[in-house]
Amino acid sequence: MINRRVGIIGAGSVGASAAYSLAITGACNEIILYDIVTDVAIGKAIDLEQSTNFSPSGTIVKAATTPSEMKDCDIVVITAGVPRTGEMTREDLLLINAKIMKEVVTDIQKNSPNALIICVSNPLDVMTYVCHKITGWERNRIVGMAGALDSSRMAYQISQKLGFGRSQTRAMVIGDHGENMIPVPSLSSVGGVPLTELLTKEQLEDIVDKTKQGGAKIVQHLGTSAYYAPGRGVAVMVEAILNDSKIMIPSSCMLDGEYNHSDVTVGVPAIIGRNGVEKIIEMELDSDLQNKFNTSVQTIQKGISVLKQNNFFN
Ligand code: APR
Repeated sequence: MINRRVGIIGAGSVGASAAYSLAITGACNEIILYDIVTDVAIGKAIDLEQSTNFSPSGTIVKAATTPSEMKDCDIVVITAGVPRTGEMTREDLLLINAKIMKEVVTDIQKNSPNALIICVSNPLDVMTYVCHKITGWERNRIVGMAGALDSSRMAYQISQKLGFGRSQTRAMVIGDHGENMIPVPSLSSVGGVPLTELLTKEQLEDIVDKTKQGGAKIVQHLGTSAYYAPGRGVAVMVEAILNDSKIMIPSSCMLDGEYNHSDVTVGVPAIIGRNGVEKIIEMELDSDLQNKFNTSVQTIQKGISVLKQNNFFN
């Protein structure tokens, strides 16, 4: 990639945490932040660039005051959105965030026509679907960040239980980034040893439950959703693309027949490299897992049909 320039739309908690992670590791040459609240983007860009003084490379961090100032990015990360407030239904939130998504994606098409997009806004899988449908781009160019985060949360629960193997834990979470996500102990391991060899059935069930509650637990304490681990999840995906690492990261991808589904975006193991989603890994799922996966897909399809009923794609 020529520029190693990353655009981040939405300079809120997750966007800024992603930028911080990228800036201090020197993963890219330039980060451009855009936010509908211009001063937030400007203030955070200054703070972020100042944080790089002791970093391995001097990452440039700029604010774009208009969408057109975010130009020719290799990757654009979308974290723009509004949180759900008391009087809003889930459906209201879906429609509001989808509308924001349509706006920002149209700007990306104009200003960074060759970019890859990493979608982070929630509800994640449906918003990733919106990015695909609005752009009409090849499916490898758009990916949703969820599995990177959910598998980090599962790895945390595993090491809480085991008390060893922290950096050697590999966890797998597939399905939707919501209540029907599927943490899969049989596909997780510590130092190459399958998790099922290390923990009892009850312990594994507890890990699955706690992983699914991972986001809600943080909200209980903070009163707001998480941002450091989501930001790191974004940064890991950006690094994999810029370095053409071709590493396996469960991610929300557009399916075209894989796992018996098409025209839906859902979390599956994916190889992430220079071209975005280089390959979707199709595993043989047993009937229990396939049923859970189908339920996950149905949840996402429900969200997509709300948008269709409201003529969103017309
Ligand atoms: N264009 C640009 N930025 C926008 C727009 C828009 N049309 N609409 C909203 N924003 C900005 C807000 O001003 C805010 O700064 O998006 C930012 C969102 O940041 P936060 O509210 O701090 O939310 P955050 O915790 O970062 O989460 C962002 O990621 O994980 C998901 O569920 C989360 O959808 C949410 C998103």
